Amino acid sequence: MADLDEALDWIDVRRQREAADQFDVTRAIVVRDTGVVAGKVSLARAHRLDTGLFMGEYEVGWWLHPDSAGHGYATEAARALIDDVFERGLAEVWCGMYVDNDASAHVAERLGLPFLGVQQDPWYEGDSRLYRVTRDEWLVR
Ligand SMILES: CC(C)(COP(=O)(O)OP(=O)(O)OC[C@H]1O[C@@H](n2cnc3c(N)ncnc32)[C@H](O)[C@@H]1OP(=O)(O)O)[C@@H](O)C(=O)NCCC(=O)NCCS
Repeated sequence: MADLDEALDWIDVRRQREAADQFDVTRAIVVRDTGVVAGKVSLARAHRLDTGLFMGEYEVGWWLHPDSAGHGYATEAARALIDDVFERGLAEVWCGMYVDNDASAHVAERLGLPFLGVQQDPWYEGDSRLYRVTRDEWLVR
């Protein structure tokens, strides 16, 4: 993003998406003790890059500013987000990442998301490390 206006527009689009779909959620990750905005965590309808078509599945994702990595913030935020959407009735959550994204895979593993393997990504081109968890699996973990 080039400037603050672009960032505010981006936030506005996220708000509109959530207003249209209660499970399309993006949240800032804010460090409780300092107020530092560490990054974001989101749940979004996965869609095919080639057609832009939504496929129905919801995918969780996490991003941190590099200064805020290494404290467990992404894992804590994702856990809170997944708790929330399952409590509100979502049936399953997917998670996918580039095969070589070890840091992201560690987050998925710390969360205990069941690993489906390295497979052709259902939405994007090429292979991904794929995880999927159902509400029942999450609640009994
Ligand atoms: C993926 C990404 C969010 C992971 O960041 P991260 O800091 O490793 O993840 P967390 O915030 O959960 O922190 C976990 C790390 O903090 C450490 N840590 C320190 N204190 C901790 C605590 N109290 N609780 C949990 N972990 C703690 C953990 O040991 C772990 O480090 P390790 O992997 O070296 O063992 C980050 O690398 C990133 O933003 N990458 C670019 C964006 C991206 O690729 N996103 C995913 C798209 S699919």
